[in-house]
Amino acid sequence: MKHVLILGATSSIARAMASVFAREGAKLFLGGRDLSELEHMAADLGIRYGISVHCGRVDAEDFAAHEKFLENAIGTLEEIHGVVFAIGYLGEQPRESTDPAAARKIININLSAAISLLAPLANILEEQGDGFIMGLSSVAGERGRQSNYVYGAAKGGLSLYLDGLRNRLESQGVKVITLKLGFVDTEMTYGQSGLFLVASPAQVAKLAWRTLQKPSGIYYVPRFWRIIMLVIRMIPESVFKRLKL
Ligand SMILES: NC(=O)c1ccc[n+]([C@@H]2O[C@H](COP(=O)([O-])OP(=O)(O)OC[C@H]3O[C@@H](n4cnc5c(N)ncnc54)[C@H](OP(=O)(O)O)[C@@H]3O)[C@@H](O)[C@H]2O)c1
Repeated sequence: MKHVLILGATSSIARAMASVFAREGAKLFLGGRDLSELEHMAADLGIRYGISVHCGRVDAEDFAAHEKFLENAIGTLEEIHGVVFAIGYLGEQPRESTDPAAARKIININLSAAISLLAPLANILEEQGDGFIMGLSSVAGERGRQSNYVYGAAKGGLSLYLDGLRNRLESQGVKVITLKLGFVDTEMTYGQSGLFLVASPAQVAKLAWRTLQKPSGIYYVPRFWRIIMLVIRMIPESVFKRLKL
């Protein structure tokens, strides 16, 4: 664990992950929309763990600014060994089902921005033949449900994109980790009804750290979601389409 870029660093899960990485002595660059919050985080992590932490502003929807942001982040880190993509936006379903602009925003933030930011980083890691890419995807991306299928489509797309990156980079010494998260107690899920088996950001960060010691692959977090999703995927479409999910 050396020089790591965290995208969406103000996310509750990414904050917990930043603490774990910092404890391991990583040099960090925190990317996000809220620069003043990132500066507070960087100062706090720097003092708490005695490491070097920098930050910079990146808006997922401002695609034209991504290249410059990455240049600055990589230039500041001097070298890069890992990237975590934690940016995410749940939206206000059911609005996205009927409003194309709202749906586009979900796809842009969760999927298009991931591709725009990760593609150049994948090229760098591939060339150096070392490092990792970790993407925070969701079990929502495994099967379309009427309650959140636009977000699900974006996360499903992200999972497929990470599958492809892993297939490309496996032989190049670069680890690609897909975390398929179940429900986590964060700002994103605050006040939502119908949540169950909710994990804490600290739990997720600990498990995410463990996956970095394992081979490239897809990891359900917490692990029991693997079984739940296996069952959900096995429900025949003729039955699934009638369920109110
Ligand atoms: N919580 C769950 O149950 C759950 C389940 C499955 C997957 N996930 C995924 O886990 C990741 C972290 O989510 P979280 O639960 O920790 O939620 P969160 O606290 O709401 O974090 C979302 C992050 O995305 C950032 N973001 C949103 N729109 C952005 C934009 N246009 N440009 C740049 N950054 C933007 C937010 O920045 P601001 O702080 O500036 O808003 C924040 O850092 C997300 O990818 C989410 O989809 C979460």
